[in-house]
Amino acid sequence: MMWKEKYKVGVELIDTQHEELFKRVSEFIEVVQNENNWEDKIDKVKETMIFMQEYVITHFNSEEIYQEKINYPDLESHKKIHSDFKKMVNDYATILERDGYPKKVVQELAGKLMAWLIMHVAQTDQKIGLYVKHQGGEM
Ligand SMILES: [Fe+2]
Repeated sequence: MMWKEKYKVGVELIDTQHEELFKRVSEFIEVVQNENNWEDKIDKVKETMIFMQEYVITHFNSEEIYQEKINYPDLESHKKIHSDFKKMVNDYATILERDGYPKKVVQELAGKLMAWLIMHVAQTDQKIGLYVKHQGGEM
């Protein structure tokens, strides 16, 4: 499990969703790292793609609504980062389906998901918590 306490933003809903994302992506990496019986893993890959596409929308919406609520100054650029990520996941979903879920591409995606998640949650999303703190506002 790659989730760390220090990744918390300080907003319960967002932190819970982040933790779930980390959990799912960690699991996904573990499954696809081992290439044995690859055919049996394709269902897991499909399920993860659907989860990522659906859950990420829910989560990004929650985060964006929260940022609107606190008048977060970087909302627009944050939205752009979210929409680029959604596009990456959707593009991978299309390619994977078209090409029959090749190991290398699935593993590459799993690595990218984790790298993106760590970078985004540990850096970009942290700024939301810091902003709230400096405003002295309520979370
Ligand atoms: Fe975010």
